[in-house]
Amino acid sequence: MNWSEQEKKNSALEAVKQIKDHQIIGLGTGSTAFYAIQAVGELVKSGMSLQAVATSVHTENMAAELGIKLLKPEEVKEIDLTIDGADEFDSALNLIKGGGGALFREKIVASLSKKEIIIADSSKMVERLGKFKIPVEVVPFGLSYVTQQLKKAGAICYLRERNDKVFLTDNQNYIIDADFGLLDDPAALAEKLNQIEGVVAHGLFIHLATQVIMGKGDHVVIYDG
Ligand code: 5RP
Repeated sequence: MNWSEQEKKNSALEAVKQIKDHQIIGLGTGSTAFYAIQAVGELVKSGMSLQAVATSVHTENMAAELGIKLLKPEEVKEIDLTIDGADEFDSALNLIKGGGGALFREKIVASLSKKEIIIADSSKMVERLGKFKIPVEVVPFGLSYVTQQLKKAGAICYLRERNDKVFLTDNQNYIIDADFGLLDDPAALAEKLNQIEGVVAHGLFIHLATQVIMGKGDHVVIYDG
């Protein structure tokens, strides 16, 4: 296993240590969350009674295969603890998420969570957010309007594709990857994006993470919000 994979795994296993019996757990999406989901599967196998809410169809399928009991987010009032990855995080624990396209569900699950733990390898920590383009999930009907508004706000826009086809989220929406350059004020930009009609969700997660556990070499570094 290479270093970045080892860092991902170490951060995931550290986060999973915080899970207690009878909790409702939010399960993230992506290659780092993968290790956490696997470990939650092990906890269930060893007899722990846990229920989970998945942030994507992919995670839902993986959790089901591991025998993790799944709840529908619309039926859950509160999630005890969510473990999810990120594409970038800064020292204020603001994040860019959505590289895997699950940003809308991830944001809902994070917002329902008492504790949102972000797990990451050391490449994800940045001084200023914005090298990673900000994913913006948009209702197809609104694509032209939202693209124009993002351009007006200063972004270079890329409609996300996969295998030469327009990428569709689990909610059957499109994603525009918006390049705003390095951000001076992520919170202000998040507010601006919130105001655009047709935007379902954007990948700026402001004040949603309570803790980041970052793998660094063979150990982990913990940042609390
Ligand atoms: C998916 C996400 C992921 O958490 C993010 O892309 C990080 O993924 P990885 O752990 O594979 O680097 O936001 O929508």
